[in-house]
Amino acid sequence: MTTPWWQGAVVYQVYPRSFDDADGDGVGDLAGVVRRLGHVARLGADAVWLSPFYPSPMVDFGYDVADYTDVDPLFGDLATFDRLLTEAHALGVRVIIDWVPNHSSDRHPWFTAARSSRDDPRRDWYVWRDGRPGGRPPNDWESTFGGPAWTYDPLTAQWYLHGFAPEQPNLDWSNPELAEAMLATLRFWLDRGVDGFRIDVAHEVGNVPDPPPGVASWPREQDWPGGHAVLRRVRGVLEEYDGDRVAVGEVYVLDQRRLASYVTTGDELHMAHNFVFLRCAWDATAFRDVIAEFTRLAPAPAWPAWCLENHDHPRLATRYDDDGRGPARARAAALLLLGLRGTPFMFQGQELGLPDAVVPPGAVVDVDGRDPERAPIPWERPSVAGPGAGFTTGVPWLPIVDDAEHLAVAAQRGDERSDLALWRRLIALRRESPALGPAGAQTLLEGEDDVLAWLREADGERLLLAINMSAEAVRCDLTALGGGPGRLVVSTDPDRVVATDDIDVLGLAPDEGAIVRLT
Ligand code: GLC
Repeated sequence: MTTPWWQGAVVYQVYPRSFDDADGDGVGDLAGVVRRLGHVARLGADAVWLSPFYPSPMVDFGYDVADYTDVDPLFGDLATFDRLLTEAHALGVRVIIDWVPNHSSDRHPWFTAARSSRDDPRRDWYVWRDGRPGGRPPNDWESTFGGPAWTYDPLTAQWYLHGFAPEQPNLDWSNPELAEAMLATLRFWLDRGVDGFRIDVAHEVGNVPDPPPGVASWPREQDWPGGHAVLRRVRGVLEEYDGDRVAVGEVYVLDQRRLASYVTTGDELHMAHNFVFLRCAWDATAFRDVIAEFTRLAPAPAWPAWCLENHDHPRLATRYDDDGRGPARARAAALLLLGLRGTPFMFQGQELGLPDAVVPPGAVVDVDGRDPERAPIPWERPSVAGPGAGFTTGVPWLPIVDDAEHLAVAAQRGDERSDLALWRRLIALRRESPALGPAGAQTLLEGEDDVLAWLREADGERLLLAINMSAEAVRCDLTALGGGPGRLVVSTDPDRVVATDDIDVLGLAPDEGAIVRLT
């Protein structure tokens, strides 16, 4: 069996609103993405994952979809999407799009019909229940964004379920017509040529409020048997097409056993984002445990998907900055992400080491406090390009990060010490190294408690990767770690001089990561 392309890929998440604004309205768009595909290709990424660009009232910035088979005019149109696909493919960059099967927008014509009457043919495409006595909702489930997961609809005197905002009613996948209609939206994009889907809240799809007989109630924050059946159907649709189309799920369960159940049977998701890993403290033992546990629970041919940033979580440089060392840790984290066996997913701007933006109270727009990590990409120095930093000629929809002057792509390009240069170096190494590729075996090493160290090997190539997650410098005896002498290939510390002589002991500064080629 040949290795599918996505096992060797680096996937770059584009949040279109904040990537590049081609028409000057302050909001990024698909024409902007097209304009910046060269950046993605030069970085060495193999695929982009585009967050939603569908028509939407934007209550949840596009994760409330009002039409699954079109482009919101704010972002462009289908012709621009097709151009994006063609130009990306010409550059060797695949395109994965976001698919939101758990809920639609309340403005989707399906929901407009469903709420119009209890007898409407689309009524059961959503989850309606009678309330409990006293005007109380059907159960006590809470929505992810806070408040009850049920909203009363006076016109038909029933409650509808929404795991997120009230404007995001849950679809009922047990309805066969809804299921067919949703699967048809996958084929719509597959026919256009997309390479796969990122499946939004994959673990909540199939979420039903009615517990089995004998069970009084069940908690909402669990995954659902019905969801697995839905994902098997999704997989079936992907397999109608050639080219190894891929499904990666946002499976936001913090129990790795349940997480693994989505990828081990071989007939559901190809990959699932691991949020235990994403939420790990900056602690070598904690990371080692997560990686070891997932590897044990999801052995080959299951395939890991690692990510440390996305549009829902504070950026690394901010999240790990409790003692001012966030930027160094973000650089070391690049080595972690790109050095592990599995497919790395990175978020736009991670290659720049962007911190969160400071969003003053008056500028807050997200329902769930996620504006800071969604700040627009600074392409140019503000001193050269003006306050829009090359992202827009208008007024950006969210503030640009502080210090865009030094963090901008234009400021980092050509600077060998920059984060951008480090990411390019690491991705290039990954591409040319058999040990770091899909066939590379991985062994976690026991050594210093504060050092996360692992070995990758293939075709006679042996690489030792180590990250010092402590605030003290450490010395790692390479032989004791199971290696022997080697040569330093990359360090994440910009002050380190990478010499070419063999070493037996690897000295690591606080929060430094390094790769040693064992000789
Ligand atoms: C996922 C998305 C998030 C969105 C939510 C509801 O968690 O990543 O941005 O708000 O689903 O669709």
